[in-house]
Amino acid sequence: MRVLFCGDVMGRSGRQVVLDHVPALRKRLALDLVVVNGENAASGHGITVKIAEELLANGVDVLTTGNHVWDQRELLTQIDSMPRVLRPANLPAGTPGRGASIVQTPAGKKVMVINIIARLFMDLYDNPFAAIERILAEYTLGKNVHAVIVDFHGEASSEKQAMGHFLDGRVSLVVGTHTHVPTADHRILPGGTAYQTDVGMCGDYDSVIGMGKDVATQRFLKKVPLPRLEPALGPATLCAILVDLDDATGLATRIEPVRIGGLLSQAVPA
Ligand SMILES: [Fe+2]
Ligand SMILES: [Fe+2]
Repeated sequence: MRVLFCGDVMGRSGRQVVLDHVPALRKRLALDLVVVNGENAASGHGITVKIAEELLANGVDVLTTGNHVWDQRELLTQIDSMPRVLRPANLPAGTPGRGASIVQTPAGKKVMVINIIARLFMDLYDNPFAAIERILAEYTLGKNVHAVIVDFHGEASSEKQAMGHFLDGRVSLVVGTHTHVPTADHRILPGGTAYQTDVGMCGDYDSVIGMGKDVATQRFLKKVPLPRLEPALGPATLCAILVDLDDATGLATRIEPVRIGGLLSQAVPA
C-alpha cells in the first residue's frame, strides 16, 4: 500500500498546490490513500465546509486538523456529518467530530487515520499518549486494520519523537504537523513505523510559517497593534511524505520526502 501525507495547507496558495499536484501524483505514483492536514486552508485559519469538500473531491481521502480546527465556526455544527474530516482525538469528551476514522482504499484495504494534538508549548489538551492508547486498544495493525496513519500535531520535536517511539511497531506512520517546516529525520523506526518529526506545510515559504513576512516580522520588533496577519500568496511548495507499507503487516518498507513547487529544493519520488 502506498500513502501520501501532505502537511498543513496554508491559505489559497497552499490549496492551489494541492489541487495542482495531488490528482496527478495519485495516478503517477499509484497512491492508495492521500491524507492532508487542512487546519490552515481557509486564509490560515481553520477550514470551511466548502474548502474541505473541494479538497476531498480532488484526490484527498482524509483531512486532519489541529489547534486551528474551530477557527471557522461553521465546522463546529457540520463536522459530525463529515466522517473524512478529523479534529484532534484528545479534545474534551463531548467535543463535536471525531479524532479517528477508518476509510477503505479502492483496493479494499481498511486504513485508520488518527489525529492527535501535543501539549508541550501548546494548550491544556488531554494526554495524547493515553488518548491514542485508548483508540489503539481496539485495533491491531495487520489484524483488523491494514494500516494506521497518525498525524501528531505539535510544537516540540521532543514530544513528537517520543510519540514515534511510543507507537513504534504498532502503527504504519507517525508524522508531525503544526510547525510548518519540514524536518530531515524521516526514517523507519526499529519496530517498522515510518516517522518524521514534521512534514512541513503546503504553502509559500517566502513567509514566516506561511504568513506574510513583513507583518509577521514586525510582530517581533514592535509592541503596537499591527495589520492582521494574512497568508503569503506566492507559489507554494507541496510538502509531503510518501510511505510504502507491507500489505501483510502494515509496517513501513520505504519513506521518502516530497517537495514540489515553490522555493524549497525539489524532491519528487521516482
Ligand atoms: Fe498549521
Ligand atoms: Fe497548528
